[in-house]
Amino acid sequence: MRLDRNLAVLGTLWLPGAAAWGSLGHITVAYIATDLVNDRTSAYFQDLLRNSTEHYLAGVATWADSIRYTKWGRFSKDFHFIDAKDDPPAYCGVDFARDCKAEGCIVSAIQNYTTQLLLVPPPGADANAETAAEAGSVLPAWRRAQAAKFVVHFVGDIHQPLHVENVAQGGNGIHVRWESTELNLHHVWDSSIAEKLLGGVGRRPYEAARRWADDLTEQIREGRYAAPSRLWTNGISLDDPVAAAMSWANESNALVCTHVFPEGPTAIAGQELSGDYYEKAAPVIELQVAKAGYRLAAWLDLIADRVSSSAGATQAPGEL
Ligand SMILES: *[C@@H]1O[C@H](CO)[C@@H](O)[C@H](O)[C@H]1NC(C)=O
Ligand SMILES: *[C@@H]1O[C@H](CO)[C@@H](O)[C@H](O)[C@H]1NC(C)=O
Ligand SMILES: *[C@@H]1O[C@H](CO)[C@@H](O)[C@H](O)[C@H]1NC(C)=O
Repeated sequence: MRLDRNLAVLGTLWLPGAAAWGSLGHITVAYIATDLVNDRTSAYFQDLLRNSTEHYLAGVATWADSIRYTKWGRFSKDFHFIDAKDDPPAYCGVDFARDCKAEGCIVSAIQNYTTQLLLVPPPGADANAETAAEAGSVLPAWRRAQAAKFVVHFVGDIHQPLHVENVAQGGNGIHVRWESTELNLHHVWDSSIAEKLLGGVGRRPYEAARRWADDLTEQIREGRYAAPSRLWTNGISLDDPVAAAMSWANESNALVCTHVFPEGPTAIAGQELSGDYYEKAAPVIELQVAKAGYRLAAWLDLIADRVSSSAGATQAPGEL
């Protein structure tokens, strides 16, 4: 969840080594989803992503961040967030028509790449054929693999409250203090809170993420999230990806009023956040990471179910 949208700000507020920590949330979300998807889903995405290890989702979870500032990947830079034009803490709320720019936003991106994942060739067709793709009703496997990488990343980002917020570019422009260092608020929510929670991550985000995911998956299966998680995917459907993504965005944005700016954006500037503020924010970060992993698993299950039932006619059961 790294995402300092403004490279100029990043120059002065970025800590050495921070890039690796920023990956922590995304990789953890991917491992939780890996733990929770059904067998058909893991087989399907391992094949599509050409990686049959347990890292097939974790290994692609930060790809979208790695390309967003490249010449090729620039088209995707606005897909990581939606600028909710709210007024925290008095009013929160996100509105697709009002807040999603013409260039796109995280909600339209989730819709776009989910839809792309469903454009599978008919049974028996060459999955890599470029010519079949020209009609627009199917996409070659490499394009669907790319779509999968975007979906894995954006379902993570949409659960970070400051990716669903307009104030000071999602908090990038607000300077705060963290253990006596100067950071921007966006970075604190992307990385610093999670890192402190885990007691430091150093430069090994995959190991720390795996440990965190072990704990959160356990909490989902039989711990403190077992009961609430049954409601986390209520009402979502591949027939309306915008509605699903908006319900996730709406929840994240509500946290902007309650936990990110409980006293408004002006009051937080210059404050030390590693004390009381951290104590209130850390459980929210954990919950959001757990929800993101759980929802990503459910979303990928829906996709794998849909594409295998459309291919299923001529395929032996379990072949996928
Ligand atoms: C699978 O992904 C992991 C994590 O990115 C990587 O280390 C590993 O080499 C990949 N394996 C294959 C066979 O590509
Ligand atoms: C959909 O995805 C394609 C391929 O990455 C991209 O070129 C296009 O801009 C996206 N469209 C929207 C509306 O996000
Ligand atoms: C967003 O949340 C508000 C209340 O918190 C609710 O009234 C509204 O219907 C929600 N919108 C969506 C799209 O979920």
